[in-house]
Amino acid sequence: MAAEAQYPFRSALVTGASSGIGEAMVELLAAAGVPTLAVARREDRLGALADRCPGVEVLAADLTSPEGLAAAAERAADADLVVNNAGFGTSGRFERLDADRLQREIALNVAALTRLSHAAVSAMVPRGRGYLLNVSSVVSFQPAPGLAVYAATKAFVTSLGESLHEEARGTGVHVTTLCPGLTRTEFISVSNSSGYQEHYPEVAWLTAEQVAAAGLRDVARGRALSVPGVLYKTMAAATGVLPRRVARRLSGLVQRT
Ligand SMILES: NC(=O)c1ccc[n+]([C@@H]2O[C@H](COP(=O)([O-])OP(=O)(O)OC[C@H]3O[C@@H](n4cnc5c(N)ncnc54)[C@H](OP(=O)(O)O)[C@@H]3O)[C@@H](O)[C@H]2O)c1
Repeated sequence: MAAEAQYPFRSALVTGASSGIGEAMVELLAAAGVPTLAVARREDRLGALADRCPGVEVLAADLTSPEGLAAAAERAADADLVVNNAGFGTSGRFERLDADRLQREIALNVAALTRLSHAAVSAMVPRGRGYLLNVSSVVSFQPAPGLAVYAATKAFVTSLGESLHEEARGTGVHVTTLCPGLTRTEFISVSNSSGYQEHYPEVAWLTAEQVAAAGLRDVARGRALSVPGVLYKTMAAATGVLPRRVARRLSGLVQRT
């Protein structure tokens, strides 16, 4: 059995903790003895997580509501590690998608993440220590026809995170952006991307545990970007060297097949 990870975090807050990557992060943090606040909307799922993980407290909050976001922001100011992981996508052609849903996607992936990042960093800098881990995606590296708004929200997350990483240099605060590729979680059904299951080969899929472990390891090490898995590390590097025009066309072909 693998040894439990050791983390430098004194306490943690994880959003989107009721399933997938966020839930796996809470499990790893709890196993390492880090007191953790788990945030999401589904109270029953959070309760079950707290029951099986010692040291886990829960906050049921909708981060797209002003009250839910304010409650989480207040707690983010006290945490040594803040993980902005809650997020969702919407698959399909832009003009066919529900405009209200896209608005909620931007409210969660962009606005709530920015507010909680601000609450965290503005408390961490005067303390001279802290860790911020924002969950983006490999789709943030190029446009993604068929997932256009989602990719745009994640491009914002990666840009914000890389800028904050540099701003925080020398302050004792570490800002890391986690960019997973395809990961087996409820995201696939929530984002209406269930067709991906058959479309992409086994080798393309990461587990929530792999992604969670890589993100926590890389924020503890003070890395700017964390891209779990050799396949996605190679793809991210290739995107950087391919002309933008070629990367965009390839991405469009992948989404259409
Ligand atoms: N799975 C992938 O292939 C993949 C790839 C790259 C990046 N990501 C990113 O990874 C992150 C985690 O996703 P996942 O794959 O673990 O998907 P997931 O299993 O669907 O988890 C999403 C989490 O976000 C929470 N959430 C959704 N809306 C919320 C709201 N309004 N307020 C508070 N919490 C909310 C959900 O909990 P409740 O419903 O209980 O609120 C859930 O805990 C997301 O940012 C996603 O974009 C995923």
